[in-house]
Amino acid sequence: MPQFGEEFLTELRNRCDIVSIVSRYVDLKKRSSSFVGLCPFHNEKTPSFHVHPAKQMFYCFGCHAGGDVITFIMKSENLTYPEAVHFLADSVGLHVPKTTAIDSEISSLRKKIFEMNRVAARYFHDTLMSDAGKPGLEYLQKRALTPQSIVRFGLGYAPESWDSLIKYMRSQGYTDNDLKSAGLVSVSEQSGKDTSSRTRIFDKFRNRVMFPIIDYRNNIIGFGGRTLADDPAKYLNSPENIVFRKGENLYAINYARTNKLGALILVEGYMDVIALHQAGFNSAVATLGTALTPAQARLMKRFTDKIIICYDSDAAGKNATRRAIEILKNVDLDVKVVTVTGGKDPDEFIKAYGADKFRALLDGSSNDIEYKLGEITFKYNLEIDSEKAACVREYLGVIAGIKNRVEREVYIDKIARETGLTKENLTAELDTLIRRKVAEEKKNEEKKVYTSLSGTGNGYLSRKNISVSRAEGDVISLILNFPQKLDEIEKLISPDDFLTDFNKRVYTVLCEKLRENPSSQPHLMLSSLFEPDEVGVLMGYITEVGAFSVDGEEVRAVADRLKAEKKKKEAAGAISDTGFQQYLEDLKKKGK
Ligand code: UTP
Ligand code: MN
Repeated sequence: MPQFGEEFLTELRNRCDIVSIVSRYVDLKKRSSSFVGLCPFHNEKTPSFHVHPAKQMFYCFGCHAGGDVITFIMKSENLTYPEAVHFLADSVGLHVPKTTAIDSEISSLRKKIFEMNRVAARYFHDTLMSDAGKPGLEYLQKRALTPQSIVRFGLGYAPESWDSLIKYMRSQGYTDNDLKSAGLVSVSEQSGKDTSSRTRIFDKFRNRVMFPIIDYRNNIIGFGGRTLADDPAKYLNSPENIVFRKGENLYAINYARTNKLGALILVEGYMDVIALHQAGFNSAVATLGTALTPAQARLMKRFTDKIIICYDSDAAGKNATRRAIEILKNVDLDVKVVTVTGGKDPDEFIKAYGADKFRALLDGSSNDIEYKLGEITFKYNLEIDSEKAACVREYLGVIAGIKNRVEREVYIDKIARETGLTKENLTAELDTLIRRKVAEEKKNEEKKVYTSLSGTGNGYLSRKNISVSRAEGDVISLILNFPQKLDEIEKLISPDDFLTDFNKRVYTVLCEKLRENPSSQPHLMLSSLFEPDEVGVLMGYITEVGAFSVDGEEVRAVADRLKAEKKKKEAAGAISDTGFQQYLEDLKKKGK
């Protein structure tokens, strides 16, 4: 470090204006000197995500994510610093000059895993098409997959063997360690006769039909494998590693993202996806064996505004539907729900009734509110008074979640008709519910913010220690805003004046880097010096704590305040993070 030349980075920043880059991910609205939008890094309903064109930085007041355009890309695309630089340079056609250690270890490992997965996928596919793949091919034919689908999804077969993939990969020059880091093998402890124990590796996927999992940038990030035997694990996924995060990817998003239909169809399984694509519904995607996550909802939001949920019609599917609706609505997606009748899952439905009938299901899908109200109606008998009361309570709970007042009224009308209760009574009850809900959401949001901060080592940013926090944050704001005063600052403030390790480190590193490399905009150096979460905290100092308002003439005053705060805390015997830990405990207790 620094891995890239100053001149190159300046050129990159000039070409990659933060507002235009962020606009590719977030719907930004101009508000005086900055832009605001819904934060892509946490779920929120009112915008707290700010982009400042003058400073070329972003900051979220909700989750404290912040930084420059490079930090933004690191977080959005889940990339390392050098990868994010390459990503941005590529997107504006800027040539990245060769430097010595351009690929950090982590990004070359990532590349290697992608490459190994590609080699393995080809091996599985070739095996499927060979004599050894007969069981796999017969199985896929039995499930009515066409040869085109098999090729399009790169399906393969992992033979019933402990080491066929291992042998092949070794022949291609990969080491056992490579195979372990890609998660293509499992490791077992083996105790030998002489009581010495050593580890042995064996193929992770055996006698399984293989589904390569491809991210939206067309990298093979892992595999799902379906057993052809009676293995209790019907589907087995690659283990999580630096390229494979189940909760952040969707099966078939590489194809579905370019669909022209508008809506993405969310189904439960690999086979459902392929059956739908084969029938012409090429916007189907599936989660990877876990419940839908907020990160997956945000991924979808990048490609569409509309989602049709089409889960299995069993009890588990209904539960999953309810949870998915919440998660999708939280990122402001328009949600519809299809209830598959006459078959357990979409795959079976299409096989039994054909594509046209499925199209009819899609056309008849209900929106999220209708779906939820329908589910509630189904549970109760409105002829019985006590059930009716419970039913209305649940109805109102759903309606309280609607943001639009007119839309709420439409459903209140509907319920009034259905139950014979007056609109006035229903509305009064609804208002009480909404007030309670708003209060609760506020409390939860607060809790989340403080919890998310605990991981950054910035523990003391609790209310109890707000004055220390201000003093330390102001010093750091001071350097970032008035780098020309570095000499004066260093004369008055030493790293030992800081209470917390994190700020001490930041102060030390910043002073050192600025002496080495004076810059008029030091806040733009942060992304190369600190982790994205840490950069967010530092942005918080200049945005919230110091608010760019620290006066450069007041170096002495800031220094005095810092020293005074430290003395006070030392006298009280309460230093650094303990106060914050206590705060978290309090929050937890209160939450119960
Ligand atoms: P299902 O059991 O509904 O699978 O699980 P399916 O797609 O209908 O499977 P087929 O039709 O019998 O082949 C839905 C999804 O849940 C995950 C997989 O992603 C699967 O596609 N799953 C299921 C697992 O990860 N592990 C399991 O053991 C089972
Ligand atoms: Mn199925």
